[in-house]
Amino acid sequence: MSESRNILVTSALPYANGSLHLGHILEYIQTDIWARFQRARGHQCLYMCADDAHGTAIMLKAEQLGLTPEQHIANMKAEHQRDFADFLIGVDNYHSTHSDENRELSSMIYRRLRDNGHIATRTITQAFDPEKNLFLADRYIKGTCPRCKTPDQYGDNCEACAATYSPTELIDPVSVISGATPIEKESEHFFFTLPAFTDFLKEWTRSGTLQDGVANKLSEWLDEGLQEWDISRDAPYFGFEIPDAPGKYFYVWLDAPIGYMASLKNYFDQKCEEKGLDWQEYWKKDSDAEVYHFIGKDIVNFHALFWPAMLDSAGFRTPNKVCVHGFLTVNGKKMSKSRGTFINARNYLDHLHPEYLRYYFAAKLTSGVDDLDLNLDDFIARVNSDLVGKVVNIASRTAKFVSKAGGELAGELADRDLWQQFVDAEPRIAEFFEAREYARAMREIMALADAANAWIADKAPWSLAKEEGKDAEVLAICSQGVNMFRALMTWLAPVLPETAKKAEAFLGIELDWHSATTPLAGHQINKFKPLMQRVEKPQVDAVLEAAKESLAQLQAEARPLSGPLADDPIADEIQFDDFAKVDLRIALIAKAEHVEGAGKLLKLTLDLGGETRQVFAGIKSAYKPEELEGKHTVMVANLAPRKMRFGVSEGMVLAAGPGGKDLWILEPHEGAQPGMRVM
Ligand code: MSP
Ligand code: ZN
Repeated sequence: MSESRNILVTSALPYANGSLHLGHILEYIQTDIWARFQRARGHQCLYMCADDAHGTAIMLKAEQLGLTPEQHIANMKAEHQRDFADFLIGVDNYHSTHSDENRELSSMIYRRLRDNGHIATRTITQAFDPEKNLFLADRYIKGTCPRCKTPDQYGDNCEACAATYSPTELIDPVSVISGATPIEKESEHFFFTLPAFTDFLKEWTRSGTLQDGVANKLSEWLDEGLQEWDISRDAPYFGFEIPDAPGKYFYVWLDAPIGYMASLKNYFDQKCEEKGLDWQEYWKKDSDAEVYHFIGKDIVNFHALFWPAMLDSAGFRTPNKVCVHGFLTVNGKKMSKSRGTFINARNYLDHLHPEYLRYYFAAKLTSGVDDLDLNLDDFIARVNSDLVGKVVNIASRTAKFVSKAGGELAGELADRDLWQQFVDAEPRIAEFFEAREYARAMREIMALADAANAWIADKAPWSLAKEEGKDAEVLAICSQGVNMFRALMTWLAPVLPETAKKAEAFLGIELDWHSATTPLAGHQINKFKPLMQRVEKPQVDAVLEAAKESLAQLQAEARPLSGPLADDPIADEIQFDDFAKVDLRIALIAKAEHVEGAGKLLKLTLDLGGETRQVFAGIKSAYKPEELEGKHTVMVANLAPRKMRFGVSEGMVLAAGPGGKDLWILEPHEGAQPGMRVM
């Protein structure tokens, strides 16, 4: 056994402004399998993650939801952690970049960069929203393309003709946030002097830290010449204020990777058990520990240029490897909202076991940066044929004969040559896991499972069992079956941690990588219980259905009733006759209830003086149901019934306010009688 290693692994920190989808989960499963593999081999391996909580997008999203950024990121973090746990992603710590540790470390690292002369300041001109008093990143400006004149294009490129430009060139630009016309405004910004690290990075990116393809791409950028990196943003911004620079904040990507360190520090500070090294040991310049970052191909420059340069300047070690993966596609295409293949983690978890996807991803993951396709028909076929049909089958067809014979495994193997194939495969399987060639590891494992099944079929213990005097032979065959199953499950345990636990209960022993190929002899096993169900097509269809529904819900909820963020255009002018068609009535709120699964809606039972109506109203952010019961309100009584996800809504309740907590239902009191017409 090789010496025990101290390893720190990380996954990219998901943004705290939305739910995790299966693309994220691909990365987190890839990382988790690697971490579990290392631990299975006896190494100390800490897996750190956190929410990436800063930035304009998160600030605006919170505002839109009527929450403070702190409330919003707390909600998202809880949701993300549930998704991690339910996908069996065993992070050792899940922290937040909006944390004391990260504030402290970010300031410390910034001060070191500054004191080393790696921070420059200069004044730049940027688009500014004069209504919202906010500098506008390109994606917050829309206008007509200066080249092909297509309206409604974002500030940096045209979707119609693919032109790229600066937002100042747009015709009739507007701020996406307020609708105001942006003006130009000057402001002082802080820059990290990346070009000073060109030689260092040319060397670092070629020192085995990156896949070849990734290193090649980076050397193109390195040869073209690096730019200074703008690391400051002006208030209002949700983030950390820069030391000695009031009103200036760290750009989210400055403190995001420091979040890896902050999560580790928090882990060591919070958990007092014995954990080997101190957190600083992992990051000091001559550290013996190993650091691996798993990331997607879209964020390579942050991890393989800015981050190592920052670490170097600040006197820390750089990562051993940045492991880059490609993007997830579904049924051969980019995950798409309109095709209904934008699948949230929860959509999947509500209908399918996490290990199916863990195995499917493992069976397709390589160390390369190619995109990986989740083909849903292939998913069903592969999981059923490999896991249920091959691996579990070995145990289910042999265990019962061992149990009939008293449950004790035979003392000798029935076929030493076959066993030797397992012994020989083990180091290859380990190498494939280590090199993130999971698909090859899975192929080795399934080839062994095929060999095992063919051998068992050939020996046909079920026929022998019917013959006289073959008991010992049947036990020997089936004992080898159980031993082969044990070896395969040991190697699959990083992928299938829950099934591995069940296998341990069945085998009456802990799975251990280093003894997997030493057969259990004369060992008592327990009764075999089914380990895994087949995937059925209706479950997969239900996932897709759920994906469509949560998308529709998200779109409905994202739009506030009114206020500056509403993306509805102002309605056209109407005539009095149009208005007179609206039948406004006083209604008594007889009952108000929560709606399971609806973020903003309450279900109201309205009494119109004899007639009752059921109405779903998006006012949960402002009212508790019990506060509403017994109140009068104004409703649109002649609105055509509308089928919503949770039931039919038979009218509409009138409310006013900017949204969120500040939302008031219209509440007539004086002499209001249910059913009375409102003039
Ligand atoms: N917050 C930054 C990362 C900061 S790390 C210091 C970020 N967040 S993200 O939520 O957009 O993405 C998190 C990770 O998920 C990234 O590694 C990203 O590449 C990965 N993926 C996001 N969509 C993906 C797919 N469709 N497929 C595979 N991975 C994808 O970037
Ligand atoms: Zn254009």
